[in-house]
Amino acid sequence: MASTSLAFFNITTTYRRQQPISAVAKLPPPTLRHHSMPPEKVEVFKSLEPWVSKHVLPLLKPVDKCWQPSEFLPDSTKPVNDFMDEVRALRDRTIGLPDEYFVVLVGDMITEEALPTYQTVLNTLDGVRDQTGASPSPWATWIRAWTAEENRHGDLLKTYLYLSGRVDMLMIERTVQYLIGAGCDIGVENNPYLGFVYTSFQERATFVSHGNTARLAKEGGDPILARMCANIAADEKRHENAYVKIVEKLLEIDPNETMLAIGNMMRKKIVMPAHLMYDGRDPNIFEHFSYVANRLRVYTASDYVDILEFLVGRWRLEKIEGLKSDGRCEQDFVCGLGARIRKLQERADERADKSRQRFHRRFVKLKLNIDDTATKKNSDCKRKGSFGDVRESNTQPAADGYGGVFGLNEQMEKESSSNSKMTVKAMVQKSRNKTRKYLPKPDSSSQKAKGIMLRDNYVKGQRMYQVTDDLIVTPFFPYGLQFFHP
Ligand SMILES: [Fe+2]
Ligand SMILES: [Fe+2]
Repeated sequence: MASTSLAFFNITTTYRRQQPISAVAKLPPPTLRHHSMPPEKVEVFKSLEPWVSKHVLPLLKPVDKCWQPSEFLPDSTKPVNDFMDEVRALRDRTIGLPDEYFVVLVGDMITEEALPTYQTVLNTLDGVRDQTGASPSPWATWIRAWTAEENRHGDLLKTYLYLSGRVDMLMIERTVQYLIGAGCDIGVENNPYLGFVYTSFQERATFVSHGNTARLAKEGGDPILARMCANIAADEKRHENAYVKIVEKLLEIDPNETMLAIGNMMRKKIVMPAHLMYDGRDPNIFEHFSYVANRLRVYTASDYVDILEFLVGRWRLEKIEGLKSDGRCEQDFVCGLGARIRKLQERADERADKSRQRFHRRFVKLKLNIDDTATKKNSDCKRKGSFGDVRESNTQPAADGYGGVFGLNEQMEKESSSNSKMTVKAMVQKSRNKTRKYLPKPDSSSQKAKGIMLRDNYVKGQRMYQVTDDLIVTPFFPYGLQFFHP
């Protein structure tokens, strides 16, 4: 199994390339508001302290009941040969997992590893922050213990990935360092109402994501990795319960302010905590990671709406009473938002389908053909260990590395192979000649790299994604984790 050089972290995306900044990643977007919670509301959180002690802190697990990373990893206290056998077994288990899976797992792991940033964000929230670093306040106790539980997630995933030999640890470590240096701006304005709406959503998103990596690991033949991801997902679920409970309580005692906060966060969109991810080379690395996660169905656009609708139902937002006119306005907005996003998604899907069909027809008209060898290689792309329609990513690319790059459908492949005057190489060359001016300059080091690659290309101004060396291009990118609210 070829090692998964995370060369996708290096890929050329010159169209939005920014000047690298030595110690941090992209500049964070400016936060427009600070301390948006009226000062008198601090008392609300002070008054909730006994309730937090009684109903939230018990959701933490005692340390001796928590799993620890070493329980899932080769035992380094064993004699060298036994330890090496366990490492070999770990590597054998990961053979059936495609490279794309590792892209997503690495992205998840990097997100977990930026934990210092998230603890910092929680400690910016007025009325709940840890004032001393060891404050006995139940809010501060929760923040520290939550961080301690979360800390196991990145530790476990990172060690497992390191031992798997499937990823480029140096690039990963640099990316983590960049990400922690960059921080994150999730738009919570030091306001705990906004902060707890965000964490409710975010913990559920990570529950969904880790749950899906668990499922895929099981399908790919690695039950230990599946168990690891499932255990992480269970932690996220427990944390989700705590934050959802806090917002539920806030809705009970201060419905209008809480409804405004929910509306505020949903209008802003929930941005992922690792949105400033950067590896020192690719300024769009987070979009690339999100795209692969979307493709593998680990975290999709539809999951976003599912989470929104889940929270609307869980908090019974439609039935909240005692709202002022601005609160009622946000209630209507939030309760109808899921349906509106779904409608937009459907329209985007339809547009993408039509565009894809037009795209295919254009190539049929051009009578561009594919040689038999390339066709065969492309049709062999699916193999055991790849998920659903995901193409195996470390099969050799056909022709010059762009075999199948245009996503020919079966009908086209039949037509093409029956009239093989033009090879894939010639077809691509012809297309390139027509579109050369839109193509970013190739990065020779990334072209040589094997394993996961992501490239952005343009064909007549349309964005194309080539996810791996051998295939997977969607000429149209309707959405990744980007949403447009009406
Ligand atoms: Fe986590
Ligand atoms: Fe979490």
